[in-house]
Amino acid sequence: MQAFFEGKYVDMADARVSVMTHALNYGTGVFEGIRGYWNSEEEQLLLFRVREHFERIHRSARIVRINIPYTVDELVDICANVVRSGNFREDVYVRPLAYKSALQIGLSMIVGGPDEPRLVDDDFTLFAVPFGNYLDIEKPIRCTIASWRRVNDNMIPARAKVTGVYINSSMAKTEAVEAGFDEAIMLTHDGHVSEGTGENLFVVRDNRLVTPSVSEDVLEGITRSTIIQIARDELGLETVERPMDRTELFIADELFLVGTGAQISPVSEIDGRIIGDGHIGAVTRALQDLYFDIVRGRQSAYRKWCMSV
Ligand SMILES: Cc1ncc(COP(=O)(O)O)c(C=O)c1O
Repeated sequence: MQAFFEGKYVDMADARVSVMTHALNYGTGVFEGIRGYWNSEEEQLLLFRVREHFERIHRSARIVRINIPYTVDELVDICANVVRSGNFREDVYVRPLAYKSALQIGLSMIVGGPDEPRLVDDDFTLFAVPFGNYLDIEKPIRCTIASWRRVNDNMIPARAKVTGVYINSSMAKTEAVEAGFDEAIMLTHDGHVSEGTGENLFVVRDNRLVTPSVSEDVLEGITRSTIIQIARDELGLETVERPMDRTELFIADELFLVGTGAQISPVSEIDGRIIGDGHIGAVTRALQDLYFDIVRGRQSAYRKWCMSV
């Protein structure tokens, strides 16, 4: 196996949905991405901040009215069981997904008429696969500002990790790759910096970190909060959370993207402007060193964030 589907542990090949599934047709799902890091000295696979991911999927589900029939503790157990079943000896990625499973043509998530209204059926699935780097972390990447604006919270909730939202990110990412860049940075509807297509963004300016505030249509990233905490506690660097203009990116001393998938990815260029000296900056490097030690369980003070399976 390696998957949990319709309440059972199954082989990946048996985790299949109907083409009529509401979520497949209308994007009515909420999901997570969790990393497991292989610690070769201890021969253990460590899931990073797994509880926080399941707390967030519950929050996402509340926003879009999906019922997850498992508590956070139960989700952690399901996740550990699936990962364990894969006998992985390498880094993995876990994808939990709660979705409207009803086989239904029609958009409403309420059925049954005015006398007996009820929400359409939901289900929860989770699978795990081996996974390496998503963006380059060894050498800096080149970014462009997307022509597509980031979804606004009053269009589709940006702080919920909703499957349907990701057409917005996919269009921006595809546009960037087609134009020869590695990643796109998205602006909010009113033109402030929001985030990457699957990452939060930080700049270093005058020895402080700056990141767009949570009201700038960002996903409230778990890596984002990890970076804010370790920058303050380990490097003595405060983070300012505020609206940020596009041109502040061009004059940053350093710029990097963070996320479970991206980890910490340094950025050397945006639309032809070189950031800093074009190499990985000292703060970015220090944060990378700390982060990779922490996620592989090599920093005892942060071992509480790592769950052995
Ligand atoms: C749009 C978006 N922003 C930011 C992030 C980073 O969030 P996290 O650090 O919780 O993985 C992700 C990844 O989940 C994302 O998809």
